[in-house]
Amino acid sequence: MDTGDVVRVPFLNLAAQHEALQQEIEEALQRVIRSYQFVLGSEVEELEQECAAYLHLPYAVASSSGTDALLMVLMGLGIGPGDEVIVPTWTFYATASVAARLYARPVFADTEPRGFGIRTEEVERRVTPRTRAVIVAHLYGQIAPATEAIREVCKHYGIALIEDAAQAFGAQCSNGFGIGRFGLCACVSFYPTKNLGAWGDAGMVVTQDAELAGQLRLLRNHGMEQRYLHRYIGGNFRMDALQAAVLRVKLRRLAEWNARRRALAHRYERLFQEAGLAEGVGAMEFDARNQVLLPAELYANATPVPHVYHQYVVRVRHREKLRQYLADHGIGTEVYYPVPLHLQPAFHSLGYRPGDFPVAERLAAEVLALPIYPELTLQQQDAVVGRIAEFFRRYD
Ligand SMILES: Cc1ncc(COP(=O)(O)O)c(C=O)c1O
Repeated sequence: MDTGDVVRVPFLNLAAQHEALQQEIEEALQRVIRSYQFVLGSEVEELEQECAAYLHLPYAVASSSGTDALLMVLMGLGIGPGDEVIVPTWTFYATASVAARLYARPVFADTEPRGFGIRTEEVERRVTPRTRAVIVAHLYGQIAPATEAIREVCKHYGIALIEDAAQAFGAQCSNGFGIGRFGLCACVSFYPTKNLGAWGDAGMVVTQDAELAGQLRLLRNHGMEQRYLHRYIGGNFRMDALQAAVLRVKLRRLAEWNARRRALAHRYERLFQEAGLAEGVGAMEFDARNQVLLPAELYANATPVPHVYHQYVVRVRHREKLRQYLADHGIGTEVYYPVPLHLQPAFHSLGYRPGDFPVAERLAAEVLALPIYPELTLQQQDAVVGRIAEFFRRYD
């Protein structure tokens, strides 16, 4: 029987964030409405400049979504039939589907379980003369651990390196490098649930490469160079000005929000240790001291923003039962991702089989994303860890 007070913890709470910003955002939206410039235009340009400044990068090209940001970069590289693009099997579908949409072949590679990033050796042994690009995904808000090593592999073979930074706007790596500094560019998503989320779909490519930025500005607008003169086969990958207006208001809060996310992540670490569920961070195997495997913050101490904790993802035993138990007690969780990409029906024709990528397949059965957002209260966070401890006491 449940005796304590029930503290409900939604997995996400956008309402709390929006309440605080409502007036400012409505004013910004009114400004766009009165301008009648609804697509691209000065609002989007301002956002591009502000994002580039935030990331200390020279160029930012806004797009209609994170997926379209990736797609237009591959289009810019001229990737097409017969080409191969090495991608993680452990990521969101769009990281790989963009290659398939251009009739190139996504070539999957397995992941390392501490930072959830693609493994260097896995990339290296899959390079062929047809390999045109490697996409690394900075999952959950952290620069993928092997990114610097993979950059060397790409340099050696003359292959483009693209960062899927959909979840990692603002994250940095050990040398203080942030997204967009490792390879050709980084692609960002501003999907509403992201740390910096629009009120609809939106995305961006950030880069140090002036030529690429110029090409992407054309590609996102049907490859149009002058009015109705089309230099490339592009698409409609343009950002709406209303989204840019929302994002500009939120960008001013982002550093503060990300600091709060990090504080909550470190508090999760402490709470799990105090509850006797984890001995420390980064353990790889379950044992008596580690019922819950905590994510390692890989570049801690080396950079001010090593991880922006878009998600706080732990690994647990009995994941489905625990998830149900938490749901029964009003606590929302998510699974990113239940099925690795090599086992997705959409990629069936590529011929992969269960067992091909053991790390990703194991993660798919164990990962659990816990609530983490700036508005999460300490009482709510205590309730999450308290219920998990209760579950393991009762069922283990
Ligand atoms: C890793 C990753 N790649 C790509 C995307 C695609 O971004 P969008 O939803 O903005 O198209 C997402 C967003 O969910 C993502 O998490």
